[in-house]
Amino acid sequence: MLLFREKVPADWLPKVLADLPAVLVDHAHLERKAATTALNLEKYRDLYGRVAELNAIAIEELQHFQLVLDLLERRGIPFGQPHPSPWISGLMNAIRKGQRPQAIDHLICCSLIEGRSCEKFQFLASDLKTVDPELARFYGSLVESEGNHYATYLLMARAIDEAEANRRLDFYLDLDAKLIRQPNPLPMLH
Ligand SMILES: [Fe+2]
Ligand SMILES: [Fe+2]
Repeated sequence: MLLFREKVPADWLPKVLADLPAVLVDHAHLERKAATTALNLEKYRDLYGRVAELNAIAIEELQHFQLVLDLLERRGIPFGQPHPSPWISGLMNAIRKGQRPQAIDHLICCSLIEGRSCEKFQFLASDLKTVDPELARFYGSLVESEGNHYATYLLMARAIDEAEANRRLDFYLDLDAKLIRQPNPLPMLH
C-alpha cells in the first residue's frame, strides 16, 4: 500500500535502537506537530469541507502525543527540545505557493510523513519485541492509525485535483527517495 521508491536506510534502525529515550522525545514532538498540522490544513479553501475529518485527525494525533508523554513520564525521561528533521524540512521546502498548489503539496507532504511513520513504526514493533516488549506493543498499536492518515491525506489531495495530485506525488516520491538517503546521525524517527 505504501508507494515509497527508496528503502529506509539500513543504519536507521540500529541508530534509533541505540538511543530510545531520545527517539521517544522526538516521537512526542512528531505527534504534537502532526496534531497542529492537521489543524493548519484547515486554512485551505479546498479543505473547508473536510474540517470535521481534519479535526478528528488532530484529536487522534493529540491522543498519540499524550500517550508518548505518559510513556516518557513512566520511564523518567524528561520532555526536551526537538531536533529539526532535514527530511521533513526538505519535503516542506518544496511546497509551492498559491492556494490550490499549496494545499495539494502540503497534503502530499503530510501523507508521506504519515506513511514513513507507519513504515518505521512497523519496524520498531517487530524489532523491539524482545528488547522492549512494552514499546514494541505501543508502536504496533499506532501503525494502523498512521497508515489511515497517510491514505486520508493522499485521497484529500486527489479529491482536489486528481491529475495534479498524482503529478506532485510522483515529484515528492523522488524527493523523498533523495532526502532519505542523506545521512542523519541524530536519533530521530525522520
Ligand atoms: Fe500519530
Ligand atoms: Fe498520524
